[in-house]
Amino acid sequence: MEAESAEAYQHSPTLFFLGQADLDTAPVAHQIGLSMKTHNIDGITLHLGAPDQDEHPWVGNMDVLQQLMACWMTVHEDDIPLNPRLIGRPGVGKTTLAAAAARALDKPVYIFQATMDTRPEDLLITPVIAESGKIKYVASAIVTAMIEGGVAILDEGNRMGEKSWASLAPLLDHRRYVESIIAGIKVKAHPEFRFCATMNEDASTFEIPEYIQSRLQPQIYIDFADADEEAEILKANLPFAPDEIISYVVKFLQAAHQADEPYSVRDGINITRMVLKLGLSREFFKKEGQQIITDENRFRELLHDSVMGILGDDALRYLVT
Ligand SMILES: Nc1ncnc2c1ncn2[C@@H]1O[C@H](COP(=O)(O)OP(=O)(O)OP(=O)(O)O)[C@@H](O)[C@H]1O
Ligand SMILES: [Mg+2]
Repeated sequence: MEAESAEAYQHSPTLFFLGQADLDTAPVAHQIGLSMKTHNIDGITLHLGAPDQDEHPWVGNMDVLQQLMACWMTVHEDDIPLNPRLIGRPGVGKTTLAAAAARALDKPVYIFQATMDTRPEDLLITPVIAESGKIKYVASAIVTAMIEGGVAILDEGNRMGEKSWASLAPLLDHRRYVESIIAGIKVKAHPEFRFCATMNEDASTFEIPEYIQSRLQPQIYIDFADADEEAEILKANLPFAPDEIISYVVKFLQAAHQADEPYSVRDGINITRMVLKLGLSREFFKKEGQQIITDENRFRELLHDSVMGILGDDALRYLVT
């Protein structure tokens, strides 16, 4: 029973909540990024997703990287990994850290971006209509990671509601499986499967139910980096940016952190990019081969315009030029 016809799908008792409107809007398989891989469970063919290719290096705070890798370690054949929660303000590097830890363990990474609209079945298996008009069962990033023995990052998990979390409860304790009502199957996690959720501390989020909180342990808190680390992070992300610009941007970020502003290294990366783009387009800077030659006399104006454009005029007070 690989794939049923669209009609059968519409009338299937387990799919009672899907009507014609859903069929009309269901994504067609070739339009979404599927790998060619399939996996069979109890006669149902699951189409697997492709791993994410995040190659961003992790620099600076090696403590948090080590903590995360320790959580994912197993110390005995009967041991199971922990499912940590990476918390911290937007843009401090939560997703980058999780992907870097997976890379360090040589595991493929599958990122699931949670939103307010994430439904329980989106986290597991979704039926889509193939060109033939038949139903294909598509495994989510999480289920693909479970099958492939990879790392699933549930990104910004606290943007989704309680009902969606409930479908992950058995996965996050000793049972390590999920049940898909849509496909009518139970999927067991590969022993190498690892999981973490990242969470933002901002207003547009839900409270995580307590029974889920107790399964998402420990919490790993990622704070703003210190000045040296921040310079290293900017350099790693923008290897073509001259040091003198990076040092101005780091001073700005550090002054903002001291005042407990939410500006992050991501903002720093964007400001640096903007300074370079404006500098070159206004012909204050020039390119010599791969090198960008800057003019320090223009920094004040360029930083002003970039910070203003990216963070608004409140942020200008932290510019030390
Ligand atoms: N320690 C670090 N090493 C390398 N790059 C970093 C580090 N910290 C942050 N970055 C860079 O900062 C940017 C933001 O990081 P990331 O997207 O991981 O943050 P986040 O905490 O997941 O943000 P959000 O809460 O908005 O999802 C990325 O470009 C990332 O490469
Ligand atoms: Mg993130």
